[in-house]
Amino acid sequence: MRLKLIATATFGLEAVVKREIQSLGYEIEKTEDGKVTFIGDERAIVRCNLWLRSADRVLLKMGEFKALEFEELFQQVKGMAWEELIPMDGKFTVTGTSVKSQLHSVPACQSIVKKAIVERMREYYSIDQFPETGAEYTVKVTMLKDNAVITVDTSGAGLHKRGYRVEDVEAPIKETLAAAMVQLSFWKPGRLLIDPCCGSGTIPIEAAMIGRNIAPGLGRKFASEEWGFIPVDFWKEEKKNAFEAMDYDADLKIYGGDIDKRAVKAAEANAEEAGVDDCIEFACEDVAKLRATETGGIIITNPPYGERIGNQKQIDKIYDTYKKFFADNPSWSLFMVTTDKDVEDRIFGRKADRRRKLYNGRLEVCYYQFHGKKE
Ligand SMILES: C[S@@+](CC[C@H](N)C(=O)[O-])C[C@H]1O[C@@H](n2cnc3c(N)ncnc32)[C@H](O)[C@@H]1O
Repeated sequence: MRLKLIATATFGLEAVVKREIQSLGYEIEKTEDGKVTFIGDERAIVRCNLWLRSADRVLLKMGEFKALEFEELFQQVKGMAWEELIPMDGKFTVTGTSVKSQLHSVPACQSIVKKAIVERMREYYSIDQFPETGAEYTVKVTMLKDNAVITVDTSGAGLHKRGYRVEDVEAPIKETLAAAMVQLSFWKPGRLLIDPCCGSGTIPIEAAMIGRNIAPGLGRKFASEEWGFIPVDFWKEEKKNAFEAMDYDADLKIYGGDIDKRAVKAAEANAEEAGVDDCIEFACEDVAKLRATETGGIIITNPPYGERIGNQKQIDKIYDTYKKFFADNPSWSLFMVTTDKDVEDRIFGRKADRRRKLYNGRLEVCYYQFHGKKE
């Protein structure tokens, strides 16, 4: 069946998510702030949940319309073919947001949408009470400038929850952001990659999963895995394809260092859980020990920054190390996420080749990209 799907993304990552969807072979309908709408089918729900690295969730779009009155919202939602998706025992909850809209009360919008779905299902299934003991369907009503978009969440837990984070540290970077940082750096296997402040190892782990072509969703479950709407065979086939697509011959040279030995222990445990412990070398080391063992390497990192962990002295030491390192090794590149505004002056004395405003959770950060000189 032809479906409209939406991949939601952190503000600033839409272009990365769009590229990922295109490389899975799906046609993009539109890209807006925080979301990419594309055309797919039931199998696309499976493939996108398994493979998208930088998206937050995959939503099934049920409809979009203008709604100035609750009656319009009710009739439009009731007009949708809910019985094709939700079985008689389906458990459905309705969430919502409303921005700059006449229908500004979110609880009221949610309750109207729920009422409309119940009414539709009641007529179709000819029952009054729904047991709600089956699979979960989280419906969302998003009101923006009087435009209503009705979606159903196919992912369940956010896609950043890969399932490998068995040990945590303070201030880890989101997996989806780490994957985007690696993809935006255009790093490829064969090129030396170091994260000298790796914490729980998120950046090296995401890079190794990209290098080995490991589908990020292989180690977890999705809400839509329980849906009768998607043939069970699709999940089996796509997981089998994903296992077969893993590239164990990829030439990976990935290193992670951290001054905190608990962080290194967490990184090692997480890498093992992700199945990439054999292709990342972790060490408990001060960034001051950073050495270039070859030319043309790349550092992808998120060092401590003021708002979160770390004090100014620690940060100064890291920047002083980088300043000397990049002066001595002009062929190396630096890709760094931070809230600091003086990184360019302090490390390179020049503007970054590219900057991107991004978010790590709710925290606004900047992704500075400094390209090394070609040899
Ligand atoms: C923002 S955290 C990195 C989080 C990491 N990306 C993750 O996902 O868990 C910064 C890390 O830098 C480490 N660090 C601070 N000073 C350091 C130094 N001089 N050398 C190496 N690591 C350092 C801290 O121990 C901390 O784990």
